Amino acid sequence: MQKLIAGNWKMNYGGADAVPLATALKSKIVDPKCGVCVCPPFTAIAAVARVLLGTGIAVGGQNVAWEDKGAFTGEISAPMLHEWGATYAIVGHSERRTYFCEDAVTTGKRALNALKHGIMPILCVGETLEERRAGAIENALKAQLEGAFAHIDAGGEQSLVVAYEPIWAIGTGVPATVENALSAVGFIRAWLISKYGVAPKVLYGGSMTALNAHEFLSKGIDGGLIGGASLKPEEFADIVRIAEKIMRNA
Ligand code: 13P
Repeated sequence: MQKLIAGNWKMNYGGADAVPLATALKSKIVDPKCGVCVCPPFTAIAAVARVLLGTGIAVGGQNVAWEDKGAFTGEISAPMLHEWGATYAIVGHSERRTYFCEDAVTTGKRALNALKHGIMPILCVGETLEERRAGAIENALKAQLEGAFAHIDAGGEQSLVVAYEPIWAIGTGVPATVENALSAVGFIRAWLISKYGVAPKVLYGGSMTALNAHEFLSKGIDGGLIGGASLKPEEFADIVRIAEKIMRNA
């Protein structure tokens, strides 16, 4: 399966700074042999997509509405993303769930509408530290998967991407161990296979860097959803090269 390296810029580089960052990525990531995608803030998507047009680096939104238009203050719809040149959308990121009250059901609705418009959702799931300590990782993942996938009728590689992002590993500099990540990713894959007969790509996210990417990507994880390290073009390009090399040697 082709690996996917996705960068989540979060609430950074939304204005004039986004173009130099995209330009640096364009010069460092040439004709990538794995999937590459960056998700800037909404305000920068159009400009970044213009810079990256034809480079093989896709652009995505960090969220997407479940309706196409109407009275939904503050939301951005899939047709709007599409018009800007985005082809991916992150949904259900833990920061959306934690700070903006999003849940499994709204995550599923967002993913469904993205799919309807040909936008590839990157659907995030992951447990809190309390759930991990209580031995409730699989229950937490199952609840998030059941809610999100209740109305989605396909789970194959072409349809969407799932990202396992343990909340305690995000932005902390302390990634999951590869064993922990593989165990959770294995659970997610098995759940999806039992529902759809196939599993999509499952990425890992949470303090992935150029130093640890090889460990995750060489042991069967399909890619990375990268926050902090995606803001450093050299490091993000290094992670892309690591993924390409693993694919070449597979
Ligand atoms: P970090 O790579 O900064 O830990 O962020 C991960 C993440 O939340 C990507 O969506």
